Amino acid sequence: MKAFKKVAALLLVVALLATSLVSCGKKSIVDEIKKSGKLTVITEPGFAPFEYIDANGEIAGVDIEIAKKIAEKLGVEAEITAMDFDAIIPAIQAGKANLGAAGITATEERAKSVDFSVNYVDTGLYIIVPEGSAIAGAADIVEGTAVGVQLGTTSDMLVSDITSGISRYKTVADAVVALQSGKIEAVVADELPAKDAVANNTGLVLLEEPLSVEQYALAITKGNEELLEVINEVLGEMIESGEVDKLIQEHMELAAAVG
Ligand code: ARG
Repeated sequence: MKAFKKVAALLLVVALLATSLVSCGKKSIVDEIKKSGKLTVITEPGFAPFEYIDANGEIAGVDIEIAKKIAEKLGVEAEITAMDFDAIIPAIQAGKANLGAAGITATEERAKSVDFSVNYVDTGLYIIVPEGSAIAGAADIVEGTAVGVQLGTTSDMLVSDITSGISRYKTVADAVVALQSGKIEAVVADELPAKDAVANNTGLVLLEEPLSVEQYALAITKGNEELLEVINEVLGEMIESGEVDKLIQEHMELAAAVG
């Protein structure tokens, strides 16, 4: 009887050791984040109201507030870093940051490189033209039309298929400058950043007809189910309570005030 108990106890110890070894080998990103005390977030802050530079020179916006809520849920600080938009998906894919929060459209192509959260914004791509332009809708953008886009965005992908007259810029603002100087005939950009650009620059018009319908999601390195669950929980609550819509309104106004 005694011997049996000893064997049973030994087996239990072996079993416990084995499970802890297995969980050690599969290091959890959530544990790493908690240990480091920070959630590393990357964005391209020329994209109001989702991310922009505020009056204090800090990166602010809807995505930043969402990222901070996720960090809070994990009990850590959000560390926000700016980079070119086209570098964000590759950086997340390579595990160089925990979260890509940049008004990123969830596309099937990108989902091969990163994991996406639930969608948190329904939006689309729109055309900006100078007042008095002959371009009145999507049908007027044809092969040869000179169109500016932000490099590596869905606008870039879409316009690349229509016209070889495409010019790719690092930021939406750079494309708008080119439009105002007459270098290009139109800019294609996401709905709200396009609205912000038109509101903050004279002589520009936003055409009514969208070129495409898209949804934004947050991007993380593939295969981190536990982190994705936390993110989706926070996003779910923020969407349900109307917080995301409220933040969009708020930051549209705040960004307009910064100019
Ligand atoms: N939604 C577009 C895309 O995913 C544009 C995003 C640009 N975001 C930014 N922060 N500049 O391609």
